[in-house]
Amino acid sequence: MHEKERKVRQEIAERVGLIHSLRKEDEKFVPGLSRVNYSGRVYDEKEMQALVDSSLDFWLTLGEKGKEFEKRFSDYLGLKKVVVCNSGSSANLLAVSSLCSAMIENPLKKGDEVITTAATFPTTLSPIIQNGLIPVFVDVELGNYNIMISKIKEAVSPKTRAVFFAHTLGNPAQMDEITDIAGENNLYVLEDACDALDSKYDGKLAGTFGDVSTYSFYAAHHITMGEGGALATNNPRIDRAVRSIRDWGRDCYCDTGEKNPKGACNNRFGHKFKNLPQGYDHKYVYTNIGYNLKPLDIQCAIGLIQLDKLSEFTNKRRHNFQILYDTFKKYQDRVILPAWSLKSEPSWFAFPITVRPDAGFGRTDIVRYLEDKNIETRMLFGGNILRQPAFENIEKRVVGDLKNTDIILNDTFFLGVYPGLTEDKMNYVVDSIEGFFRKY
Ligand SMILES: Cc1ncc(COP(=O)(O)O)c(C=O)c1O
Repeated sequence: MHEKERKVRQEIAERVGLIHSLRKEDEKFVPGLSRVNYSGRVYDEKEMQALVDSSLDFWLTLGEKGKEFEKRFSDYLGLKKVVVCNSGSSANLLAVSSLCSAMIENPLKKGDEVITTAATFPTTLSPIIQNGLIPVFVDVELGNYNIMISKIKEAVSPKTRAVFFAHTLGNPAQMDEITDIAGENNLYVLEDACDALDSKYDGKLAGTFGDVSTYSFYAAHHITMGEGGALATNNPRIDRAVRSIRDWGRDCYCDTGEKNPKGACNNRFGHKFKNLPQGYDHKYVYTNIGYNLKPLDIQCAIGLIQLDKLSEFTNKRRHNFQILYDTFKKYQDRVILPAWSLKSEPSWFAFPITVRPDAGFGRTDIVRYLEDKNIETRMLFGGNILRQPAFENIEKRVVGDLKNTDIILNDTFFLGVYPGLTEDKMNYVVDSIEGFFRKY
């Protein structure tokens, strides 16, 4: 880089830092008037500077920052392959689609079954349907909100090929049991770790047990790129299929702006595919039915800074979770507290609460009360997704009843624990909760 440009960039970075500190000065929390969001971006001047600096590169598409993020994220997870993409939903679509690709051994085919839950985020389920697979629904536990282990065993049929579930709200599912059942029945395990970055089970990071795992970097998540996502795997064939499907379905695996005219394979005009002319440009050979789900380099530049802050964020999430736990514990005769395995160290996405049937108030009462106090609440995603308009008539199998899933639909909600919830905000939330229980 030209010395003059380096100097100008340095000046721009300083000015960006100034904008950040001016905005910071204006930030003030006024209890009752300021909104207490359940989640949001937590950043400082470093993310803003990284974003501006990357935009000055004007590379625009995925490039060096993307590669650097993939490397750093794969080192952090201890998994061989990471692919960045433009959202957690895209990561889920890529994960399931890759298992249906001819690039992997014995791929899943239309009509094969995938065990999952109905207490779910929609885009954990959608890719199963989009790939012509049959979702098999089992119930979840109340309190930990994760897939019921005994029901997975019951659900396995000769057509079952995979199990795909989320670590709900950052609470790791019982991965030892799940990988045992999967091993006995030759099932792929897909972990939706979109809400569970940095959570651990048995000392190992959530997302590192199965065949492929997915992450979201949407603004509400543990780290953010604004929008963004990633997949991780140790399986090079899955990695290759994911990259192909992410990049239009092409067979070629050149980087964007590949410098070698002979391509990354060094044989760009030398391949032979059955129905294509000898040497047809590898860049335009499609072995998968794909999409374009790439993120931008500027997103990855932000992600790199956020990654440095992950453990600080995790500590704050755990701290805020504990404050809410201690508050609600006094009322556990009226609400079901969150529960987790002794082997788990969750990095909570949020604090889930289920109102008991004889509480003397309903979910709507507490949710309305908190929202009127300007404290954001959320439902546990789709509740029972099978009762949502888009999913009412899907082809499926249901194993046992979905009793707890229906309780979640009717009686569960969550509050935020994200690192942006400062001490004054948490004090206000706690006082408001105490005020509610004084009233009821
Ligand atoms: C469990 C789960 N999976 C997938 C997603 C989708 O992620 P994204 O919003 O990045 O598409 C979400 C979104 O919050 C989620 O909670």
